[in-house]
Amino acid sequence: MEDDLKRVEDELLRTVAAEGDFLTEVASHLILAGGKRVRPGFSIAASSVLDPEGHPASLSVIRGGCAVELVHIGSLYHDDVMDDATTRRSVKSVNAQWGNLRAILAGDYLLGRSSEIAADLGTEVAGILATTITELCEGQILELESAYSTDRSIDAYERSISGKTASLLATACRIGAIVGDLPRPAVEAMTEFGKAYGMAFQVVDDILDIIATDEQLGKPAGNDLVEGIYTMPVIHTLADPNLGPQLRPLLTADITPADRDRARELVRESDGVTVALDVAQSWADKAAATLTDLPDTPGARALRAAADHLIERAAAPLGRKRFSRKAR
Ligand code: IPE
Ligand code: IPE
Ligand code: MG
Ligand code: MG
Repeated sequence: MEDDLKRVEDELLRTVAAEGDFLTEVASHLILAGGKRVRPGFSIAASSVLDPEGHPASLSVIRGGCAVELVHIGSLYHDDVMDDATTRRSVKSVNAQWGNLRAILAGDYLLGRSSEIAADLGTEVAGILATTITELCEGQILELESAYSTDRSIDAYERSISGKTASLLATACRIGAIVGDLPRPAVEAMTEFGKAYGMAFQVVDDILDIIATDEQLGKPAGNDLVEGIYTMPVIHTLADPNLGPQLRPLLTADITPADRDRARELVRESDGVTVALDVAQSWADKAAATLTDLPDTPGARALRAAADHLIERAAAPLGRKRFSRKAR
């Protein structure tokens, strides 16, 4: 798996190399900055869930993982423009370094490169990736539609994160499974795994925005509140009869840094974080449950470990590894 991920790095850089040095530099910026590479890792693991020997991935699987990571990175270029974010993967964001225009164009360029790979991998893969980009946009638009709305519902929140995040994680697994020639029931199981994991993943990201620091995240913490993106822990706090009325007046389009910090404190004081962790744990459990019919292979073990450990980063500050409200 380590070796396969190294092949992904080489392929990513090779794919984005452009005629001009400037475009190559801008397009490589976040690739070189690192990132967890969850999505190509899932493509590789999903392709091998039925392989007891855990052989190296085929070139097509590596390229499938690259296509997915390029969509992800392209969407981060655009997302940082939308969120006016100054840091990403612990380096300056593309928009902070080169401005919005270049960030948008370079993001489009990455989507174009991804589509080239997808077209090479066949009509089905190209279609899936195209649908996923559509869903990503739909999720981001839904989020914009409820920006600064303190009446945002949990249902509206879940519809948005399903489109903007879970869809691509589902696709990472699905493409790995298809290109890896898995039988259809396994392709479907992998897709379900990625979808459920992706829901948990975004809820955890949203909790971390409330409880973690810029340094821990490598991106600006608390920025969701500044951008008017009220996520699951915040929505729950707003419903709290004592804390809700204190939080609501702070959540405006011209929120000050002091009010943002006060708002984060109020959310941490409420049970919003623990309720959201509980929801994330249920999604992670649902992801793990999709793996139960699979044989015990290195690929299946890697996916299971990912589902088992997802919650830890957000649950650790509460002194837990696994989260269950019943154990409270
Ligand atoms: C960030 O994704 C965007 C979300 C969907 C929350 P990741 O947390 O996977 O970011 P990188 O790839 O590690 O930078
Ligand atoms: C994920 O949501 C955005 C994308 C789908 C690109 P966020 O806005 O929460 O991502 P971060 O926190 O900036 O990484
Ligand atoms: Mg963002
Ligand atoms: Mg976020």
